Order: sequence, then structure tokens, then C-alpha cells
Amino acid sequence: MEVPTLPPVEPVLSQPPSSSTSAPLPQILTYPSTTPPVLITQGAEALLYKSTFLLPSLPCALKYRPSKPYRHPILDVRLTKHRILSEARVLVKCRKEGVPVPAVVKMGKEC
Ligand SMILES: Nc1ncnc2c1ncn2[C@@H]1O[C@H](COP(=O)(O)OP(=O)(O)OP(=O)(O)O)[C@@H](O)[C@H]1O
Ligand SMILES: [Mg+2]
Repeated sequence: MEVPTLPPVEPVLSQPPSSSTSAPLPQILTYPSTTPPVLITQGAEALLYKSTFLLPSLPCALKYRPSKPYRHPILDVRLTKHRILSEARVLVKCRKEGVPVPAVVKMGKEC
């Protein structure tokens, strides 16, 4: 019996979302004076970029949670805000206790 061939699988992690495929990139990903962020991984909700903060010599991780078109817009904003804040609080608390987690240097809707 002939085994059907499956269509090629699109990689989940490819290019950062562009305006043609997703919402416009937030200002922090396009701001001309920053180092262009490089997408390094993707989680269930967020995209993780390697970038720099303030100076090209200061590396940082940039976690971006794009809006989810499958969620109700009001719920989406609420969940995203809550998750960003919760993660930041946990990171700050951990760092205060001496756990070697990344320092939170900036956060917000558009950072
Ligand atoms: N500071 C960091 N440096 C390097 N990799 C990171 C960093 N933070 C997260 N990652 C990686 O990014 C990926 C996704 O991270 P994370 O689990 O935080 O996001 P998520 O699953 O999309 O969202 P959620 O915060 O809801 O779990 C994971 O593979 C994680 O190891
Ligand atoms: Mg996760």
C-alpha cells in the first residue's frame, strides 16, 4: 500500500512577524537607533528576541507578547497585561532574593 506523502511542515520559528502576516511590529522592534532584535526562540505566547538596551554594548532579552486574534480583544489586553506584570514581579522578587534571573530593565505595552 502506498504511504501518502505529507505536505512540508512550516517552521514555527521563522522571521519576526511582519506587517503583512501579523500586527505591526511594536516600536521597540523597529526603532532605528536600537540594535535590530534577533528572534531566538518562541514560547506558547511570546517571542523572545536578543537585543540591546540603551547602548549597543548592553545585551538584553526582549520578550514580546503579540496580541492573540483568537481572543476577545478586551480579554486579550487584560490577559497580556496581567501576564507581563506577573512575570516582571516574579523576576524582581527572585532577583531581590539572589536568584540569578534576568534583571527587568523595561516593560510596557510598547516598552
Ligand atoms: N531571558 C531569557 N533568555 C533566554 N531565553 C529565554 C529567556 N526567557 C525565556 N526564554 C526562552 O524563551 C522561550 C519562551 O519563554 P517563556 O516560557 O517565558 O514564554 P511563553 O511560553 O511564550 O510565555 P509564558 O510567559 O506565558 O510562559 C523558552 O524556551 C525560554 O527558555
Ligand atoms: Mg512558557
